[in-house]
Amino acid sequence: MLKPVLAALALAAAATAHAQNRPPIKVGFMLPATGTFAALGDMIEKGFKQYVDEQGGTLAGRQIQYFKVDDESDPSKATDNVNKLIKRDQVDVIVGTVHSGVALAMARAARESGTLLIVPNAGADAITGPLCAPNIIRSSFSNWQPGYAAGVMAAQKGYKRAVSIYWNYAAGQESGKGFAEAFSKGGGQVVKELTLPFPNVEFQALLTEIAAIKPDVVFAFFAGAGAAKFVKDYDAAGLKRTIPLVGSGFLTDGVLEAQGASAQGMMTALHYADGIDTPRNNAFRTKFAVTHKLNPDVYAVQGYDAAQILATGLAATQGDITKRDAFVAAVRKMTVDSPRGKYTLSAAHNPVQDFYVREVKGRENVMTGTAVKVLPDPARGCRM
Ligand code: BEZ
Repeated sequence: MLKPVLAALALAAAATAHAQNRPPIKVGFMLPATGTFAALGDMIEKGFKQYVDEQGGTLAGRQIQYFKVDDESDPSKATDNVNKLIKRDQVDVIVGTVHSGVALAMARAARESGTLLIVPNAGADAITGPLCAPNIIRSSFSNWQPGYAAGVMAAQKGYKRAVSIYWNYAAGQESGKGFAEAFSKGGGQVVKELTLPFPNVEFQALLTEIAAIKPDVVFAFFAGAGAAKFVKDYDAAGLKRTIPLVGSGFLTDGVLEAQGASAQGMMTALHYADGIDTPRNNAFRTKFAVTHKLNPDVYAVQGYDAAQILATGLAATQGDITKRDAFVAAVRKMTVDSPRGKYTLSAAHNPVQDFYVREVKGRENVMTGTAVKVLPDPARGCRM
């Protein structure tokens, strides 16, 4: 009787020793630590590390070693920055980034080098479109998705004439396209698109133009510090009282403290909401709040899910991240048990997920309904 038990113990000890003898998995965070999106990068990292900590600090028995590059949300530095992780640090997997323009350069570098890339925010449609690849996986959304969901929401409210306003780069343009597509399907029309370069926040002239056009509704894509300022400026210009402001949920996520009364009552659409009352979300939020004395937001959720995706691939390969085919096959099959709700990944490796209608109440983006259930990204141009 004792012999099989001892044999099993010896086997377990050998497995542990083997795991401990293997080098750590090198995770390279390429995220903004400075600039307009700095807080978003910080939340992604906190979410990612929370999941790893919940697994006892190892994934598939392997320690995790972190490397970091501040990408400054600057596309002109993106190729140099990502090569610091690929060539200098020789990381096993890159986790990044927030800004679509930076992420496009990262996706190209990942395709060339074959390095595994998990995108925990940037929505550039091309990443799961023409640039899709077996080694590129997204735990967030494509820009088209929340824009489309916001268009459905605005049309359902009965608005007919909309003005769109956004930063003029992939995230703004593609969110605007998604919004216009759904809004026109629902019987509305975008009568004017107003843009300014990222990360410019001089909104005054554009707000004056909106006041002159007098649309039924304004759709906006801004995020981080830029979103905080836009919502306050919109209110200060007297527009909040007369023309409803809607957006993809980045407009109010993680910035409600800064926006204060200016955001109250605003409606947005996103794949996360503060008040999702499930055991999974409640446990996630409680742990996050206890650890950081801070409420999590959508960016923290996306970071958390990036780590879950990595964990699933590693579990399927017994921690051997070089077994790429088995890693990707497991991820493709997985259901991500996310605080946002369960979702799967499309053939192009983008979340197929629900989009909620949220309303700002106090310091929360409260879920009040669902704009679109199980919305896949069209993945236009993806050949894999
Ligand atoms: C983007 O550049 O893709 C992006 C940035 C912030 C929030 C959402 C999307």
